[in-house]
Amino acid sequence: MKPQIAAATLLSMMIVLGIAWHAPTITTETTDDCLNLPEEPFNYANITLPFYLQAPPLLDADNTPPGNPITDAGAALGRVLFYDRKLSANETVACASCHKQELSFTDAATLSEGFEGGQTGRHSMSLAMARFYQNGNFFWDERAPNLEAQVLTPIQDPVEMGLTLDELEARLAGTDYYPPLFEAAFGSANITANRISRALAQFVRSMVSYQSKYDQGRLAAPPGPPNQTPFPNFTPQENLGKAIFFDPARGNCAACHGTDAFNAPGPRNNGLDLVSEDPGKGGVTGNPQQIGEFKSPSLRNIGVTAPYMHDGRFATLEEVIEHYNSGVQPHPNLSGPLRQGPNGPPRRLNLTPQEKAALLAFLQTLTDDTFLNDERWSNPFCADPVATIEPIKQDGWQVFPNPAANTVNIRIDGAAGQEYTLSLFTADGRLLRSYAFEGATFQFQREGWPAGLYYLQLISEKQGAVKQIVMR
Ligand code: HEC
Ligand code: HEC
Repeated sequence: MKPQIAAATLLSMMIVLGIAWHAPTITTETTDDCLNLPEEPFNYANITLPFYLQAPPLLDADNTPPGNPITDAGAALGRVLFYDRKLSANETVACASCHKQELSFTDAATLSEGFEGGQTGRHSMSLAMARFYQNGNFFWDERAPNLEAQVLTPIQDPVEMGLTLDELEARLAGTDYYPPLFEAAFGSANITANRISRALAQFVRSMVSYQSKYDQGRLAAPPGPPNQTPFPNFTPQENLGKAIFFDPARGNCAACHGTDAFNAPGPRNNGLDLVSEDPGKGGVTGNPQQIGEFKSPSLRNIGVTAPYMHDGRFATLEEVIEHYNSGVQPHPNLSGPLRQGPNGPPRRLNLTPQEKAALLAFLQTLTDDTFLNDERWSNPFCADPVATIEPIKQDGWQVFPNPAANTVNIRIDGAAGQEYTLSLFTADGRLLRSYAFEGATFQFQREGWPAGLYYLQLISEKQGAVKQIVMR
C-alpha cells in the first residue's frame, strides 16, 4: 500500500464522504469592537440615481428634512450604529437583527424577537425606499411623525432594545470607535441622542434600491411612464405581469403601489380579513375613518421580504395575489381602488392562472441583488460573534503517535468547547468507527484492525478535515 496518496484522491474521497471543504477564511477576531471601515467613507450622499427617481412625483415624495441631509460621514456613522448590538440593553440585538440586508432590511420571522426574547407586536418592515414615502410618517400605523423620531423608538422599546437614551449616550462615549466617528460626522466628538437619531436616519434614507431588472428595463425603454411600452429586457410573461400591475382595469396595483418607489403617498385600507383587530392608523389618530388603514409599503425587493402584511399573515406572494384576486373583505374604510365603483362592494380581479403567474413574475423583477449585497449597507463589524467558531484547519490538529500501535491521540488547536465527530475509515473508504466528543483532546483504542493505512475525519459544525494514520 502506498504511504502517500495524491491530493486529488484525498479530495475525491472527501467528496464521497460528503465533507464540505472550507478554506479557513473566518477571522479570529472575536470582539464586537473590531470595525472594517473604508479609509474614506463610502459614497452615500451623491449616489447617481436614475432620472425617474429624481423627477416628480418622487422628487416631491423625498422626506429628507432640510436640517438632516445625507452626508457620507453621517451615513457611515449610521451604518455602525445600525449593526451595533450595544444599542440594546444586554448587547444581544442590533437594528440589523430585525432588518437584514439580504431580506431588503426586513425579517423572515412573522414577529421579530427582542433583546430578552419577547416578540414585536407587528411584522418587521423593509427599509428600502423609506426616503420616498411622501407623508414622511413611519411604522405600519404611521405613529412616528418622521424618520428622525422613528429611529430612536426601537432603542427605547421595552421589547425591542430596552435602553434609555442617557444610557446609550454614556455607553457609546465609553467606546474607542464612536468619538472619532461622531467627530467626522458632526464636527465634534459629542455623543447625543439627537446626533444618533440623525445619523441613523441618514443611513436608512440612503437605502435606495434602483438596480433591479425592472430598473434596467425602465432605462432601456423609451422615456415615459413605465406602463407605456413593454420592456425590452423582460420576458413576455414579465411584460404581461407589468401590464396587469399598472392597468386600472385589470390589477390596478399601481393605484397604491404606483410611482417608481412602488408605494402610495399615505395609508390605505386594503381589505384584509379581520383588519379591525389592529386599528392601524385609526388607532393613532382616533379618526374612525382611518380604522384599518396601514402604510402602503414599497414593493421593491418584495420577492425576498416574506412573510407579508403588517401581521405577516401571508407566507407567499401567491397568497398575496390571491387576496387581491378573490379575498378583499368589505369594510367601511375599504380604499376606493379595491371597490367596484364608488362605495361599491370589494372588487374581484378574476385573474386566470396565467395572469396570476405573470403578476408574480413581474413582482420578482423588483428584486435588486446589487442592493441586497452592496457593502455600503453591510455589517461593518469584523466578525459576528455567532460566526467566530474556529474552523478546523488542516494543520490545526494532531494525530499521534503516527504510526500508532494501540492508543491513538487527537489534539485540536484552539478548540473552544465545541462538539466534534471523529470517524475512522479504511483506505478504501469503509467506516469503521465514529466517536463524538467535546473539547481539545480525545483518545481511542485500536480494536484489532490490521496494519495499514487508515483515514481519520474530524468534523465540527459543517467543517471537516481528513488526515492519514498508519497502524503498525
Ligand atoms: C426586535 C426587532 C426590531 C429591532 C431591534 C428594530 N426594529 Fe425596526 N421595526 C421592527 C418592527 C416589528 C417594525 C414595524 C413595527 C410597527 O409598525 O409597529 C419596525 C419598523 C421600523 C421602521 C419603519 C419603516 C417604515 O417604512 O415605516 C424603521 C425605519 C425601522 N424599523 C428602523 C429601525 C432602526 C433604525 C432600528 C435600530 C435603532 C430598528 N429598527 C430596530 C422591528 C425591529
Ligand atoms: C387600495 C390600495 C392598494 C391596492 C390597490 C393594492 N395594494 Fe397592496 N398593499 C396596500 C396596503 C395598505 C398594504 C399593507 C397592508 C397591511 O399590511 O395591513 C399592501 C401590502 C401589499 C403587499 C405586502 C407588502 C409587505 O411588505 O408585506 C404586497 C406584496 C402587495 N400589497 C401587492 C399588491 C398587488 C400585487 C396589488 C395589485 C393586485 C396591490 N397590492 C394592490 C395597498 C394596496
